[in-house]
Amino acid sequence: MILPIKILLFIILAYFVYSFAIYNQVMHTEVARKSISPLAVKGKDVFQKFNCISCHQIYGLGGYIGPDLTNTISEKGEAYAEAFLRNGSLRMPNFNLNDTQVEALIEMLKAVDSSGSFPAKDFDVSWYGTIQKKEKE
Ligand code: HEC
Repeated sequence: MILPIKILLFIILAYFVYSFAIYNQVMHTEVARKSISPLAVKGKDVFQKFNCISCHQIYGLGGYIGPDLTNTISEKGEAYAEAFLRNGSLRMPNFNLNDTQVEALIEMLKAVDSSGSFPAKDFDVSWYGTIQKKEKE
C-alpha cells in the first residue's frame, strides 16, 4: 500500500518541478513581436483564400504536395517565387492572381522569411524538452 503512495507523491512532485522549470525559463520572443506590414497582412488573406497551406508548409507546417515556403525568398529569390505565382507549373495550379495579389503574397513570403527558418537550424534542446535558438557567439 505504501509503494503506490510513494509513486503518486513522486509524480506530483515531478509535476511541480517540471512546471517550475518551464514557467521560469527566459523566453526569446523579440522576433515574434515584430509587426508585419499591411501589405503582408493582405498577402496572408490571399494565402488563406486560395488555401495555399493545403499543399505548402510555412515554418514546416502544412500540406506536403508542394515545398516549404518559409525561406523561398532568401534561398531562391523574389523573381523565382513570382514566376510560380503568376504561371503555376506542371504540378502547381495557376490561380490567375492579379498584380495586387501577387505583390501582397511576395510581401507576406518576405515577412515569413525574415521571421524564421526551416528546417530549424542552430537550436539547443534543453533537458526538459524545449528548444531555444543558439545564442550568437
Ligand atoms: C495543388 C497544390 C498547390 C497549391 C494549392 C499551391 N501550390 Fe504552390 N506549389 C505546388 C507545387 C507542387 C510546387 C512545386 C512545383 C514545381 O516544382 O513544379 C509549388 C511551388 C510553389 C512555389 C515555388 C517554391 C519553391 O521553393 O520552389 C511558390 C512560391 C508557391 N508554390 C506559392 C504558392 C502560393 C502562394 C499558393 C497559394 C496562392 C500556392 N503555391 C498554392 C503546389 C501547390
